[in-house]
Amino acid sequence: MRTLRTLRGVDVKGKRVLLRVDCNVAVDDDGRPLSGAEQRLEAILPTIQHLQSEGARVILLSHLGRPGGKVVESLRLDDVARQLSVLLNTPVRYIPEVGGPDVCARVEQMQDGDIALLENLRFDPGEERADLAFADALASLGDLVVQDAFSVSHRSHASVAVLPRLRPSYAGFLVEREVDVLQRILVNPERPAIAIIGGAKLETKLALLKTLLPRVDHLLTGGGVANTFLRLSGSPIGTGLVETHPFPDVSALLSESLDKLHLPTDVHVIRGGQSRDARIIPVGALTPADDVRDIGPETALAYCRVIATSKTCIWNGPLGQFETLPFGEGTRRVAHCIRNADAFSVVGGGDTVRALSEMGLLSAFDHVSTGGGAMLAFLEGAPMPGLEPLYTPLETA
Ligand code: 3PG
Repeated sequence: MRTLRTLRGVDVKGKRVLLRVDCNVAVDDDGRPLSGAEQRLEAILPTIQHLQSEGARVILLSHLGRPGGKVVESLRLDDVARQLSVLLNTPVRYIPEVGGPDVCARVEQMQDGDIALLENLRFDPGEERADLAFADALASLGDLVVQDAFSVSHRSHASVAVLPRLRPSYAGFLVEREVDVLQRILVNPERPAIAIIGGAKLETKLALLKTLLPRVDHLLTGGGVANTFLRLSGSPIGTGLVETHPFPDVSALLSESLDKLHLPTDVHVIRGGQSRDARIIPVGALTPADDVRDIGPETALAYCRVIATSKTCIWNGPLGQFETLPFGEGTRRVAHCIRNADAFSVVGGGDTVRALSEMGLLSAFDHVSTGGGAMLAFLEGAPMPGLEPLYTPLETA
């Protein structure tokens, strides 16, 4: 198995370290990070603190949102810099540009142990285009590159995929941990191993299901993923949170994995579009007037029995429409069971982490992945352009 080149043991004293992080946190219309943003920022603190305490000059690089290659005022990183200063209890200087003479001058003035954050990289069209000239300009600001932005490592962007090839580059502690944990789930999970897959769309989870099914003993489903499976297996079901287009290869998947795949047996529905008319019904009683919004209590109990026997548990995707009461109940009950189980537990995905954070249940997990799309891509075995340069021998980097 390939191993990452990590930061451990690397002499960074007095070096200008370009540290790619992911500060892509949800912000309000004025660009202020919303509650729940801390998890992503807290995850990068150990690498920043290590570099600072070892005497590096730390230049943080990040994106925020999708500004499309131009300056969008609400997506500036000044508030993120302030929030990082508070979390680190040390000044993080905000440099309100991505490149140019002023940026170079400010970096030149940095002392050992200083930390600065460059402006949103996606303000420059070269970032998303993986432009070599843009990556080169970033590289000229540093001596070393540390990649700690696991959650964007599935993107082929300049700072993610090109920059680490232009300077000696290493995985930060967060990337090291994410890869270690997800690899362990894929290659050598302690058994019984289970996966819990929810979320709005089966389409976005199909590749993941195909990779996980041969590796786990049980796959528990909820959300739109389960609803679409229910529709495909013949249940009459309303149009809410269900995909109606054909899934040509799903019937084979369903029949091959019947012994592993768990679908809800009861569901929380809204009948006739009336939210005051929410009710719990067995799946066998579904009608086309029922929009399924959550798994029911009988399903949650059955899932909990499976979880209680597991040694490894990975979860991606909420099991119901958790934003609206009472449809977060299935997600909450299942998270409680994971807390009580003796399993190595991993959760990831923006909505899932937000749901569990709002319920105060994130601490039930051994590892909370910062990756949404990146976690899915890694588990699916998709290319990871942001990790690839960190596997090559340093001489050829
Ligand atoms: C994320 O939030 O998952 C990452 O920051 C990647 O963002 P992107 O989907 O806009 O590339």
